[in-house]
Amino acid sequence: MTELTAQTGTRTYGLFVDGQWEPAGSGRTFPVTDPATGATVAFVADAGADDARRAIEAAYRAFPAWSRTPAVDRSRILRHVAALMRERKEPLARQLTREGGKPIREARGEIEYAAGFLDWFAGEAERVYGDIIPHWTFGKRHLVLKQPIGVVAAITPWNFPAAMVTRKVAPALAAGCTVVLKPAEQTPLTALALAELFAQAGLPPGVLNIVPTSDPRPVGEEMLHNELVRKITFTGSTEVGKYLMREAAGQVKRVSLELGGHAPVIIFDDADLDKAVAGTLASKFRNMGQTCVCANRIYVQRGILDAFAQRFAEAVRSLKVGHGLEEDVQVGPLIDAAGLEKVKSHVDDAVAKGARVLTGGHVITGDGFSGGCWYAPTVLVDMHDEMRIMKEETFGPVAPIIAFDTEAEAYRRANDSRYGLAAYVFTENINRALRAAERLEYGIVGVNEGLPSTPQVPFGGFKESGIGREGGPYGIHEFLEVKMVGLAIDETVPGE
Ligand code: SIN
Repeated sequence: MTELTAQTGTRTYGLFVDGQWEPAGSGRTFPVTDPATGATVAFVADAGADDARRAIEAAYRAFPAWSRTPAVDRSRILRHVAALMRERKEPLARQLTREGGKPIREARGEIEYAAGFLDWFAGEAERVYGDIIPHWTFGKRHLVLKQPIGVVAAITPWNFPAAMVTRKVAPALAAGCTVVLKPAEQTPLTALALAELFAQAGLPPGVLNIVPTSDPRPVGEEMLHNELVRKITFTGSTEVGKYLMREAAGQVKRVSLELGGHAPVIIFDDADLDKAVAGTLASKFRNMGQTCVCANRIYVQRGILDAFAQRFAEAVRSLKVGHGLEEDVQVGPLIDAAGLEKVKSHVDDAVAKGARVLTGGHVITGDGFSGGCWYAPTVLVDMHDEMRIMKEETFGPVAPIIAFDTEAEAYRRANDSRYGLAAYVFTENINRALRAAERLEYGIVGVNEGLPSTPQVPFGGFKESGIGREGGPYGIHEFLEVKMVGLAIDETVPGE
């Protein structure tokens, strides 16, 4: 069990190292709070560099046996965990909402999404084929083997406490790697609950280790500088991603980085407005606007600007805001005070520079909202490119609407960003849809839909949005090395 001791009436959870639940070496713990109320939900053992080192050493010891375990057996464990997740969907979703603030319906969706990565990579484990490359020289053969990289350090974000864990852990384990995972300090409980399910499904000790911490730096530094770690996989900000990439270069560690985004939505005047409003709403307000693929700039062709803005603002006004555990809530709290401050500063800056607020535009306080970080779902118009929100990722429930005239202008403005993760297009014209999909410099393009992510397709960005792809047939290759075996053979057949 994860529970170690009772502390001021709430549970205390341990680190998961080498198949054991244990306290941090320092004996320290840190609180996990409900972002909707500020109430303490649980305490968690607070890992330091020494704990991370022990976890890395456990993963290193477990690697030879796990990497040689037949793929079919590794798959069986992943599928078993997926089944356990579905069986426990409700308690897992409730815990996820409690620590992350996400509305319960989205949390249930996330558990299903997360289980999907386990199922998908269970299948992929069995399809890690090598190659035989035709030789150019008599007496030679060339084989290509795909082999697991080794110990992987995974660093996951708070906005998807379940799905970003399985999106990294499932392909790593499927490939035959072992893992040390540092979940976000705001949301470690879901990761620990998943560790329990892995143990229950028969994952051998040391194959997956979890080291939550209140201070990411010492654990992160150990992951970066310990020579036993061969790969860093990270989802989070572009700034931290760049730091990891620079430091990982010291040992030429492999990196996969899923970083920030600043997704444009382009709504052409031939779009179906119902689809455009529903798709943009789904993209923008998913997890209160706190995903890397959320709509950040909504470009609407001038002829339909007023009609779209009015319908969209009406839909936004009707969103129900409240504690995520209330069944019909659609928008919960922001994760913390820093998140709230950023949203507020983006809106204030835009308004000071001439933006008009169609709805929202303020912090929510008062009955039912004390203790948490709440911002009203907001729609802005009369935007221009000097506003901060037009360049920086807001990570909050704010939708700026911008007019454009021509198709060429839409692509130029949409591509005018250092980010390149996700973009969206709404049009009923197939030619335009295809042109847009090809012209947009983004790793993911949603056409007439606002939620394109799913486990069986690649996810990742162009430009400063990252390196590598997760999910789909590509995701497992991030955890494999390619080895060429050159074989000299005697071609003579005795008796021929
Ligand atoms: C993310 O925001 O990092 C993940 C979003 C997704 O998987 O769709």
